[in-house]
Amino acid sequence: MKILFLDQSGKLGGAELSLTDVAKPYKENCLVCLFADGSFRELLEQHHIPVQVLATQKINVSKDSTFLASLASISAIVPLIAKVVKLAQNYDLIYANTQKALVVGALASIFSPRPLVYHLRDILSADHFSRTNRRIAITLANRFASLVITNSKATQAAFIEAGGRAEITEVVYNGFEPNNYNIQEANPHQVRQQLGLDGQFVVGHFSRLSSWKGQHILLEALAQCPRDVTAILVGDALFGEQDYVQHLHQQVGQLGLEERVRFLGFRLDIVPLMKACDLIAHTSTSAEPFGRVIVEAMLCERPIVASAAGGVVELVETDKTGWLFSPGDSQQLAQIITTCRNQPEYTANIVHQAHIQAIQRFKLTATNQQISQLLYQVLEKSTQSQKR
Ligand code: UDP
Ligand code: GLC
Repeated sequence: MKILFLDQSGKLGGAELSLTDVAKPYKENCLVCLFADGSFRELLEQHHIPVQVLATQKINVSKDSTFLASLASISAIVPLIAKVVKLAQNYDLIYANTQKALVVGALASIFSPRPLVYHLRDILSADHFSRTNRRIAITLANRFASLVITNSKATQAAFIEAGGRAEITEVVYNGFEPNNYNIQEANPHQVRQQLGLDGQFVVGHFSRLSSWKGQHILLEALAQCPRDVTAILVGDALFGEQDYVQHLHQQVGQLGLEERVRFLGFRLDIVPLMKACDLIAHTSTSAEPFGRVIVEAMLCERPIVASAAGGVVELVETDKTGWLFSPGDSQQLAQIITTCRNQPEYTANIVHQAHIQAIQRFKLTATNQQISQLLYQVLEKSTQSQKR
């Protein structure tokens, strides 16, 4: 099976990291087309996955774009569609991994003609997307996609709630290779020493700096925790959220947390950093579609506290595999952090259970097998309908 993958981003977000894992088994028979250049291209090249950057001009549609702004972006999208139509002649199906990729892929699928699969990794709710963007995504998916893969039940439910056709959806959780999180050379003590974190209870936050990812909630919680509780914020503003970054730095000053918070920027060495933490916090204030960091924390055998909205509640069970708290409730978060600091024996058992479950439930080989089966079904249906 030959697949033409489409992704709008050149940057390394969770959608792109997940797509890398999905594309790996097809590296002899696929092409990943990006609508922007960046470190995502480099990662694909490192894994010998064929990649082509189709556009260098930015498509100016944001998650809250109005109808007019969306229309204005058509001039940037038309040449992309033409390129994808041409490329698609050499592939069996088009696989759109992001919303702008859906727009391009849907229109290209008419002219190629090739079946379209949409891997939906976003919660299509008013919290995350403008009405126009939601309507565009739903209309195109309903009309042109043979299959919509959603990264959680919550993502699937939001798609259906927004008017998406339930019968074309399938839930496939993100997959992870457990061995990648089990590296022995990572020496947590050394990492802690290098970061000046010795003797602290370290809470790690691994996410792009963006207001809905809620780093400000962790800072608020930190101010309510014992003084030896320190946070490392790993990640950068990927999509122009510079105001929020500035706000976080101000908040650190206002709360007097200068000695207790480190901003480490975007890092590729997530595993040693996670292993150097005593607890990982996920703090999104709006529904998280899946939340790779949660499973990664479990695979790194670190306790996880996560914000209970969206797909997260499908990943974590309080007191069994981690702890959930109400989105935005910094007081509750502070209480959980303090309990974990005070009761390491209690935490250890939960970490063990979470590790076992994460290996069982989110195995990359199983995910890829599930996707492969679904794609073969799509191809089969498409061949049958062409014969008719
Ligand atoms: N991540 C990373 N470097 C960083 C911060 C985050 O590689 O500095 C990774 C993190 O380990 C996770 C992904 O980025 O695999 C983020 O995915 P997630 O699903 O948690 O959230 P998203 O940003 O996609 O909404
Ligand atoms: C998106 C979502 C995130 C999910 C990732 C991979 O970036 O925001 O929750 O884990 O896609 O599917």
